[in-house]
Amino acid sequence: MSSEGSWPNVTIIRHPVVQEQLTVARDRRTGVEQFRRLVGQIARLMAFEITRDYPSKARNVETPMGPCAGSELARGLTLVPILRAGLGMVDGILELVPSARVGHVGIYRNEKTLQPVTYYCKLPPDIGQTDVIVIDPMLATAGSLNACIDVLKKAGATSIKVLCLVSAPEGIRALRDRHADVPVYTAAVDEKLNERGYIVPGLGDAGDRLFGTA
Ligand code: PRP
Ligand code: URA
Repeated sequence: MSSEGSWPNVTIIRHPVVQEQLTVARDRRTGVEQFRRLVGQIARLMAFEITRDYPSKARNVETPMGPCAGSELARGLTLVPILRAGLGMVDGILELVPSARVGHVGIYRNEKTLQPVTYYCKLPPDIGQTDVIVIDPMLATAGSLNACIDVLKKAGATSIKVLCLVSAPEGIRALRDRHADVPVYTAAVDEKLNERGYIVPGLGDAGDRLFGTA
């Protein structure tokens, strides 16, 4: 992992396996099935890195040979995928942390204004006692992530991280301006947004590529 000097709230996960898989996911020839598998795998690898600093508490178990002092995560983990594309990252992370709960926030961008439209929200009632990771493959203008984090903070969440695959500099700035306390973990910061608010070079429309709706 490495923090970026100009973006103190951003950590780029440069692990070579993550970067190789992201490169295949970006490739326009990669079909739905492989794209879906890659998004799950990349999410799992990145989650392994970003959960490193979560506190543990003691948990004692009996092995077949006798007592053993072990540990478990001190606070529960809540994953919050932004519908739809965030759903593609859930299963991969649950393989890593099966005890995690999943809250859902449905947001889409109005294609003309690029403004976020929130249409669904279902969160664990005790989300404030847990560590929260918001997951979405794309951080473009950050309208969707900012709206989602607004909702999570209103619900009481205090420990929030963002995990996305590809980010735009414009979105990183907009997220920092609104939620400077929320760290962003990404596999890439790309060049820019185009006139339609898509990340360039990006990987296209993540939801369409995941669900075959292009
Ligand atoms: C995509 C993506 C993010 C959002 C990013 O979702 O998954 O949620 O766009 O753009 P932003 O940073 O400018 O808000 P989209 O609106 O296409 O909805 P979908 O997942 O339902 O396809
Ligand atoms: N949403 C996507 O799915 N891709 C982008 O490049 C921007 C927003």
